[in-house]
Amino acid sequence: MSRIVYVNGEFLPEDAACLSVFDRGVLFADAVYEVTAVVDGGMVDFEAHQQRLCRSLAELGIDFDPRAAGLLKLHRELIRRNALNEGLVYLQVSRGVADRSFLQPTTCQPSVVLFTQAQSLLETAATGTGLRVITQPDLRWHRRDIKTTQLLYPSMMKTLAVEQGADDVWMVEGGTVTEGSSSNAHIIRADGALVTRPTSPDILHGITRAAVLDYSRETGAAVIERPFTVAEAQQAREAFITSATAFVTPVVAVDGVAIGDGRPGPATHRIRSHYIQRSRERLQY
Ligand code: PDD
Repeated sequence: MSRIVYVNGEFLPEDAACLSVFDRGVLFADAVYEVTAVVDGGMVDFEAHQQRLCRSLAELGIDFDPRAAGLLKLHRELIRRNALNEGLVYLQVSRGVADRSFLQPTTCQPSVVLFTQAQSLLETAATGTGLRVITQPDLRWHRRDIKTTQLLYPSMMKTLAVEQGADDVWMVEGGTVTEGSSSNAHIIRADGALVTRPTSPDILHGITRAAVLDYSRETGAAVIERPFTVAEAQQAREAFITSATAFVTPVVAVDGVAIGDGRPGPATHRIRSHYIQRSRERLQY
């Protein structure tokens, strides 16, 4: 069955939807996006995604007000039209259509695209097996806190990891881990403390990361926000990634070195279960 997608004011079958070849999202990656998880037909942390979208738009000077545009209603409507129970809603806002020029136009109308993707999020193979990551230098630009559609380098690195028999990359800069190709990176030390890189322009300020840190602090766990090295990760008791679609997924090896006993650990399992439970209690319909 063909999906119904949303493009610039219209709900259309996916085959009929189109975007101009002159869209600045196409030509310059002059666009920002959000991915919101859907579980039990409801959205996880929609408001936090909307707030981050507002920040990304402001940082790039794209004149678009998600609230005035009724983004929440559009998300709900798309979930309804596609009868989506579990998966994600992808939203992209570009600066709009203009003749190709490095000078950003001031008068164009932002383009808005939304689509759904059905996907298992609660039950995944990676939760049981854990992920094996390899490290690679982080060669992305230095405003990774803005969620732009410039995803070529992380996509190349994810592909490289899979070609090398791993599942994903952890990118490294100045001797410390920044983040995964599309996730935040965390370790649990031998003493049980959760160590994760603090927010800065070095990383995307993950919505899942923020929720996991809040929930962990609520349960009295020690949370230390500081960068960590690859060696520290390899010596950690457990490691995991967070993202809107991975939730909390264990990492069991870094550059071929097993973390702990090389299997998903109990603390990561507890954090994942707690995250899913709390998220399900607060779904937005
Ligand atoms: N990516 N870091 C990067 C580079 C990301 O691309 C993502 C998410 C995250 C996690 O952020 P959040 O918890 O808000 O999803 C961190 C999405 C899922 C994607 O591009 O598909």
